[in-house]
Amino acid sequence: MRTQVCIIGGGPSGLLLSQLLHRKGIDSVVLERKTKEYVLGRIRAGVLEQGLVDLMRQAGVAARMESEGYVHDGTQISCGDALIRIDIKALTGKPVVVYGQTEVTRDLYAARENSGGQIEFNVEGVTIHDARTDAPSVTFVRDGTHHRIDCDFVAGCDGFHGVSRKTIPDDVRRDYEKVYPFGWLGVLSQTPPVDHELIYAASERGFALASMRNSNLSRYYIQVPLSHRPDDWPDQTFWGEFKKRIPQGHAARLITGPIIEKSIAPLRSFVTEPMRWGRLFLCGDAAHIVPPTGAKGLNTAASDVHYLYQGLCQHYLEGSDDGIVAYSDKALARIWKAERFSWWMTNLLHRFPEWSDFDLKMQQAEIDFLRSNEAAQRALAENYVGLPY
Ligand code: APR
Ligand code: PHB
Repeated sequence: MRTQVCIIGGGPSGLLLSQLLHRKGIDSVVLERKTKEYVLGRIRAGVLEQGLVDLMRQAGVAARMESEGYVHDGTQISCGDALIRIDIKALTGKPVVVYGQTEVTRDLYAARENSGGQIEFNVEGVTIHDARTDAPSVTFVRDGTHHRIDCDFVAGCDGFHGVSRKTIPDDVRRDYEKVYPFGWLGVLSQTPPVDHELIYAASERGFALASMRNSNLSRYYIQVPLSHRPDDWPDQTFWGEFKKRIPQGHAARLITGPIIEKSIAPLRSFVTEPMRWGRLFLCGDAAHIVPPTGAKGLNTAASDVHYLYQGLCQHYLEGSDDGIVAYSDKALARIWKAERFSWWMTNLLHRFPEWSDFDLKMQQAEIDFLRSNEAAQRALAENYVGLPY
């Protein structure tokens, strides 16, 4: 088999890249370890920055997002019963769009299928060869048969546990990591959202987040110790704790009901450098992870895809490799800022078990400053809506 760009991983990064390239006449093959149903079964954050909204439009996959997504002009932060509304639209001129990552991925699969895109599912043993030459290849096994794809470039869009990052030798690659001492218990409940905007709640009992998917599907989270399991949180226990962490007025009008999914995710900040090794490029979770506070996971993946897409278009359509050569530096410059924002927001809103009274006072002062200072609110809003590409 031969293709121009071999894309490893059929998550949002790989699919978006494949779809964008297709629209410019550049062909790719996507290799996915799991099934489509498995990929679509994963529930992830759902706040899209303007940059990703624009990319979805460029990729020709924006129709359902435009009709079903919720345009949010603001987001809220609560501290006890006090509520700070960050007017993102007034402060930056742009809104965010609340639309689940699962839906983004579903739309991308539909678009790839409609245009005859090649996606190989259930592949095993994916191995990248000769990434430092002009003729890389990728081998894999499916149903016991060995396959080989010759290509010009390899896009490593295979998430945190993929093979692409590990293909870059240890003496070339440097990893930066911070693991947080708590996780998020997330539930999906068939109930109307408690508010028309998101609420990020800093409470003495720990962080909580009220988010949504549609008018009868809410996504709620609470900070829990890493040792906890979903079974430690029967539905009634979850609702009881969630109510104690959000402002009283909201707790009083919260509609509780059937919880259809419940899981715990650890929080981690992670970046690998560089994001290019020869003709292998890392994109999305393969190269970096953010804690979910601020919903930057999918959005950072999107900015990588944007830079790589631009670089590949320059290569194929203009005969210049400048974009490809600059890919890692450009992507990382934006990634580190999104890492900083996610880390800052995590520190602003969570209870860290090891914190001293002094640390708690600093957190309180930071929230008070945010409440009273428009420049601080603007800084939050600019990061939340997404820094320019
Ligand atoms: N071979 C083929 N496919 C693989 C391999 C492999 N060795 N390893 C992993 N994959 C697949 C996974 O099964 C998954 O479907 O790569 C895909 C990677 O998808 P994601 O983990 O969703 O990563 P990405 O596409 O970069 O999306 C980033 O996802 O995790 C969130 O917060 C993150 O929202 C962000 C987004
Ligand atoms: C979500 O809706 O799942 C969500 C929203 C905002 C976040 C994280 C998750 O910061």
